[in-house]
Formats: sequence, C-alpha cells, structure tokens
Amino acid sequence: MQIHIYKTPELAAKAAATLIAAAILAKNDAVIGLPTGSSPVAAYRELARMNKEGVIDFSRVTTFNLDEYIGLAGDHPQSYRHFMDENLFDHINIAKENTHVPSGIGDGAANARAYEEAIAAAGGIDLQFMGIGRNGHIGFNEPAAAFSDQTGVITLTPSTIEANARFFASAGEVPRAAISMGVGTIMRARRTLLIATGADKAGAVYGLVRGAITPSLPASALRLHPHCVVLLDEDAASRL
Ligand code: GLP
Repeated sequence: MQIHIYKTPELAAKAAATLIAAAILAKNDAVIGLPTGSSPVAAYRELARMNKEGVIDFSRVTTFNLDEYIGLAGDHPQSYRHFMDENLFDHINIAKENTHVPSGIGDGAANARAYEEAIAAAGGIDLQFMGIGRNGHIGFNEPAAAFSDQTGVITLTPSTIEANARFFASAGEVPRAAISMGVGTIMRARRTLLIATGADKAGAVYGLVRGAITPSLPASALRLHPHCVVLLDEDAASRL
C-alpha cells in the first residue's frame, strides 16, 4: 500500500486526478470505478479541467460507480446517478452509455447480478477510485461479520444514515438500503485508489492503515490489494 500525505485536501485531490488521468493516458479505453460523496468532488473538477484543456480524452473510457441508493431513480436529485452527471459526466466528453451506476429501482438481486456481469463483460476494472466512510466502509459495504464478495443489496447502518443525512432534507428521507459493489468486486480491480480528507476520517484511516484486517472495518481489505494507493490530507492522517 502506497500512502501519501498532503498538506491540503486540494493537493490530495490533484494527486487523485493525476493517477486517474495517467490510467486513461496509459489505456484510452480504460475501465474506471468511481465513487460519490464529498471526497472525490475536487478530483472530478480537476479531471474535467484536464479534459477541457485536451490533456485527457474520455471518449473511449467506461465507468462503473460503486453504489446507488435503493428506491431512488436516476433522476432523483439525491441519486448517485444524478450526482455523477452533475459532478463529472456532464463536464467531460464521455459517452453516457459507457457510464454505469447500479440501479436502485426494481429487483435488487437481479440488478446486482447484471452489474457484476457488465463489469466482467467490460474486461474488469482497471482502476477503482473510492472514498471511505467514517466507519471504514467502502462503497456501501458496512462493517459486517464477513467481507462481502459480489455486488449486492446492503442495509445501511444508523451511523451512515446519519452521516449522509446532510444531503437530504432530514435523516428520515435517507434510504435505508443501497446496492453496492462488494468488497470482492473492489478487490478484483487491477488498481485501487482511496482518498480521505478531514479529521472525521482519522479513525477510519487509522483502521485502514494500522488496524487489523477485518470485515468490521471493510476498507482494511485493501491492505491485501497488490496495487493500492491511499491519498490523505494531514487531518485524515493525524492518528497515524
Ligand atoms: C458514502 C458512499 C461512500 C463514500 C462515503 C464517504 O456513504 N457510499 O462511497 O466513500 O459515503 O463520503 P464522503 O466522501 O462524503 O465523506
């Protein structure tokens, strides 16, 4: 695991965008796994800038998002599909049909199976970018008794519902479940990239880097990944 600690969150975001840009420069039809949340937003802005300047071309890139809320259609303002359009896809020259976000509507088990099949059909994920939840979740893989393998439907924990309530009018409106790539799906990506900034991530980052490899801190699985880069700002790294 390569760990880089930056003075500011902006520098960590710039490093993340640089690694994603490098993956696209190395392989113009790269398959990139993407997260939502506040952590990747500045990196997305930087990628859009590089695309506009002509440094990177997304026209042959395929993306797979980590997760989506159950019950929210893609046009719901809090859906992760909507988030991705607003924060990245509408600002780059990607073909919308090459962008994949799991469906939160309909038969969850069938949607999850179809998502795994689509990732396999695309040749697997070259680079999986992600944030980390305050409880150490990746995607929406919450602390559990065992690491999840494939994409599936997950019941959100009260702490995640509370953490994500800031995006909704009230905690009562936060969906209680999500469809998420499994920890196994993430681990099968050829390269992985995690960004964490801010003091509220310091505990999860400590667990990720120094704690036991345990499904009670799902991100800790990344310590077993052969190509994992972790980008931190000083606040997120403050307990290391
Ligand atoms: C959400 C997402 C995760 C994300 C996490 C942290 O629950 N499902 O993929 O990493 O929250 O979010 P933030 O980056 O806003 O702190």
